[in-house]
Amino acid sequence: MNTIIGRAAETEALHACLAAGRHVLLEGPVGVGKTALAKAVCASLGRPLFRVDGDGRYTEGKLVGYFDPPSVLKSGYQPEFFVSGPLVSAMRQGGVLFINELNRMPEGVQNVLLPALDEGRVQVPSLGEVRAAEGFALVATQNPSEFVATGALSEALLDRFELVVLAYQSEEEECRIVAQDARCSPCAALVEAAVALARATRHDPRVRRGASVRAALAIADIAARLDGDVLRAARLALPTRIELLDPTATPLDAVLDDLAKKAGVATRA
Ligand SMILES: Nc1ncnc2c1ncn2[C@@H]1O[C@H](COP(=O)(O)OP(=O)(O)OP(=O)(O)O)[C@@H](O)[C@H]1O
Ligand SMILES: [Mg+2]
Repeated sequence: MNTIIGRAAETEALHACLAAGRHVLLEGPVGVGKTALAKAVCASLGRPLFRVDGDGRYTEGKLVGYFDPPSVLKSGYQPEFFVSGPLVSAMRQGGVLFINELNRMPEGVQNVLLPALDEGRVQVPSLGEVRAAEGFALVATQNPSEFVATGALSEALLDRFELVVLAYQSEEEECRIVAQDARCSPCAALVEAAVALARATRHDPRVRRGASVRAALAIADIAARLDGDVLRAARLALPTRIELLDPTATPLDAVLDDLAKKAGVATRA
């Protein structure tokens, strides 16, 4: 796993909440580093880690677990036929359940978490009550509601979480992240140009949703294979990653040309 660059305060906050036996919601825009930070902190705790990715079709049965149908048909509901889902596994083993993009989960899945989070118990039909062992915690991530087309978390669920907000990192840290993650070792000038252009999209009044460090990484990787042409790489990498307020007013290519000039990005770094 790659090293986490910067994020000292957020790492400390996450550790403090988990050491205090709390559950944590990490919130921040797309690509800001929520998953990377959560994975790194969870791994450093040395507790078993169970990861689930938020999905509108995910079910309570998958999260909690289910009875193996052939075994039940043959011998009835015996505890040994229960196949634990990530929630029951994390509770029994005192592990961390990491739910990526919790706000994408259907309401039923979110509701199952309520008693697990504040009372450390969950009621499983035909099995009985499962109690959480010491160390059980939930770390979840969500994108801020203005960026996602999914529902917000219920008040009841939010009331069981501490919130750690992740904002974009400094330019210098973003350059180090891109240099660390890049596949084809781009030179420092190219990394700086890619990061400068991605960051410029975040403050432009014509742009509704700007580019993340993941976009800067894509620009740097592609530009390294296009003789350092950062603008050409950005034209490939950014259309899927940024959203203009009014695409009919100024086409994306024109906005990118303009931002490249303002960010001092030469077409060949
Ligand atoms: N502080 C950091 N140190 C090292 N790498 C980082 C850091 N922040 C982000 N990254 C890297 O940037 C990329 C995007 O980060 P990540 O996937 O964690 O973002 P995210 O907020 O979970 O995105 P999404 O909203 O799409 O789920 C990954 O390749 C990750 O490794
Ligand atoms: Mg993520």
